[in-house]
Amino acid sequence: MKYTRIGIIGGGLMGREIASAFARWCALTDISVTPVLTAVADLNPQALEWFEKIPSCQLRTTDYHALLASPEVDVVYVAVPHDQHEKIYTDVLSAGKDLLAEKPFGMDLASAKRILKAVHESGRFVRCSSEMPFFPGALRAFEYAKSGALGRILEVVSGFHHSSDLDPTKPANWKRLSAKCGEGGALNDLGMHACHVPLRLGWTPQRLLAQLQKGYAQRPDGKGGSASCDTWDNALIHAWTNIAGHEVPLRLEMKRLAPGATNTWFVEMLGTDGGIRFSTAEPKTLWVFERAKEQWWKRTELGFGTQFKTVTGGIFEPGFADVIQQMWAAYLAEREGQLDGRFGCATPEEAVASHKIFAAALKSQRESAVTTVEP
Ligand SMILES: NC(=O)c1ccc[n+]([C@@H]2O[C@H](COP(=O)([O-])OP(=O)(O)OC[C@H]3O[C@@H](n4cnc5c(N)ncnc54)[C@H](O)[C@@H]3O)[C@@H](O)[C@H]2O)c1
Repeated sequence: MKYTRIGIIGGGLMGREIASAFARWCALTDISVTPVLTAVADLNPQALEWFEKIPSCQLRTTDYHALLASPEVDVVYVAVPHDQHEKIYTDVLSAGKDLLAEKPFGMDLASAKRILKAVHESGRFVRCSSEMPFFPGALRAFEYAKSGALGRILEVVSGFHHSSDLDPTKPANWKRLSAKCGEGGALNDLGMHACHVPLRLGWTPQRLLAQLQKGYAQRPDGKGGSASCDTWDNALIHAWTNIAGHEVPLRLEMKRLAPGATNTWFVEMLGTDGGIRFSTAEPKTLWVFERAKEQWWKRTELGFGTQFKTVTGGIFEPGFADVIQQMWAAYLAEREGQLDGRFGCATPEEAVASHKIFAAALKSQRESAVTTVEP
């Protein structure tokens, strides 16, 4: 067994999620590399306290440069507000470490391109976090689309919905401020999740029309006052892509104001011969369309068919924590050259491609017009 030493910069929501995925790595049965969390950096000393319960995490620092200087760190995972992505990602690369970056991979397209340039110059192994395609149902949808079973593809929908912003009493955080989240707002926050599978299939939008909406302009600031919120909260992107010589409608949806949805990622692909639907609202269920003399939507309960095998029984259902772990297994296996044809993490190029879509969507909204996506 090989051990890879990981440092986390940003010990908030995602930093803790990743640390807990490592803590139950023994669940995986067919991977020859194990992550060991050796260091964490967070500006907030209280965020560091949680990491005291992880014995291997000996370095807990408020200065991420100390983490980058540590010889006990091989790979760095960075989960900080978007306005700090570029500076911290490029510092990680300059320190000679490999990187699993969080989405959206920079505040905007220009920033993402500068990060990509730094990635190429550094030669380090870099991927971008996007875990939802690691659900067994999502992987089956991806393989089904690749197989040609859809026939001529008629339309594709891919999206990510939340609903917590419907509550006007929810305090504002940095994700509702353009200065920290980026002008893209929900595009930056949820867009990579919606784009990952279509981009991996080569279904790159060529032009699009976007409809963006804002939610509450004021929210409690969590300290007894109120804060202004200025980000786009819902985005509907009606794009055209070219698949096998045909123009195909591709709709990308990113919503923070989606009644009833908690963390719902979904994909639907319809063709003349077949169709497939998967949503994390039904985490073990796959819907497959078949056209014969009669037409059928067939529902299958997939169970726990993850691409890296685990001790978890095959009939059990997967969840968010499982796909985070599967994504990390893919990252570490690919880093060792052992992905062996399995689905891999989003690449820096795919992250830049998602930013090209977001930039076109912002332009489309501004001009209320169909906009070309930068090739
Ligand atoms: N993949 C996913 O499903 C998913 C889900 C949520 C968030 N995210 C992404 O993860 C990143 C972080 O989001 P979050 O929800 O964990 O945010 P968060 O606010 O919960 O945590 C961010 C942490 O970063 C720390 N921080 C800020 N600046 C820092 C610096 N210079 N040095 C060290 N620490 C610093 C903060 O103190 C905070 O603890 C974002 O890029 C976000 O888009 C991804």
